[in-house]
Amino acid sequence: MLAVAVEKKNAERAKIMLREKGVLLQGYGAKNDEKHVYFPVAKHVILPFPHSYKQKTFPKKPLGAQSLKAQGLSSFDIVGDIAVLEDRGGGDVKKAAAVLLKTNPRIKTVLLKTGGRTGEFRVQQVKWLAGARRTKTTHRESGCAFEVDLAKAYFSPRLSNERLRVLSKVKNGETVLVPFAGVGPYAILIAKNKKCRVIAIEKNKDAVAFMRRNAAANRVAVEIVQGDAGIILPRYKADRIIMPLPHGAFDFLDAALKAAKDGCVIHYYSIGERNNPFEKPLREIMQACERRKRRFRILEKKVLLSYSAGRERVVIDFLVRNIIGVIRR
Ligand SMILES: C[S@@+](CC[C@H](N)C(=O)[O-])C[C@H]1O[C@@H](n2cnc3c(N)ncnc32)[C@H](O)[C@@H]1O
Repeated sequence: MLAVAVEKKNAERAKIMLREKGVLLQGYGAKNDEKHVYFPVAKHVILPFPHSYKQKTFPKKPLGAQSLKAQGLSSFDIVGDIAVLEDRGGGDVKKAAAVLLKTNPRIKTVLLKTGGRTGEFRVQQVKWLAGARRTKTTHRESGCAFEVDLAKAYFSPRLSNERLRVLSKVKNGETVLVPFAGVGPYAILIAKNKKCRVIAIEKNKDAVAFMRRNAAANRVAVEIVQGDAGIILPRYKADRIIMPLPHGAFDFLDAALKAAKDGCVIHYYSIGERNNPFEKPLREIMQACERRKRRFRILEKKVLLSYSAGRERVVIDFLVRNIIGVIRR
């Protein structure tokens, strides 16, 4: 089978582009080696980053996922023992839920997304479809367990690799601030694996209650503060600040810069246009640093996930310095 190989950092973008060009073969899983991800494709196409072609065999996807596709249901997430279906094609959702329950013994409940993540707390709108009637579950990821009620607090299993990437940057001894902490996936993962002071800030009371329980269940010490990150951030001085609020983190950049020590690293999540995904977040970083008279240096830029047609979820890691001078990018 014809396969296109791309570097891991470009895999998500490649998948979206191959799908858009209509050449990605359905029903097969992608393959990885240390540096590359391989996608099965119908023909050669040109991508705007390094890629090459070779012949490979690909594993068939499990029956559940394939038959969901056949019914017009494009994707689903699994959080703990709950599957959350997305209906983009007007398929038979009840039938799809039954297929999921039957083919995946791990799944006990199937929910349907009934809208986007709404409001300040970014909670997913869902309705029950099949299986046990509940929205609460415990999700296991990277050696941690996170209890969450999907109807009351944000949680996305799609960011697990990104959380591991951030963890790999954290050094023992750092003070790490996590505003927009949700039920604690970044804060608890870091507290469990590094000797750090970890402070998690979250406004949603329900998410805070789960985060407290999750910290206890994972036997980690996280300082959990309930309230508005804009007010609470400047009370601390941090070596690292993780800002997982892609829709609105720019409103909190000044507060984060007040909390940033000289040499602090900020992980800044945002949403950018597909044709130039970093332009908007870079501008926001530059403007905030100019306002706060801080120097910055970009350490890493990454496209994480497709957000919607034409838009991508991205992260930019940048280092903050005290003295204003030449702004390096
Ligand atoms: C996109 S979610 C990310 C949650 C978590 N970090 C994760 O990855 O699962 C953003 C979180 O920020 C919280 N939030 C929104 N505005 C806030 C504010 N002003 N101060 C503190 N938390 C806020 C929401 O309640 C939500 O839990």
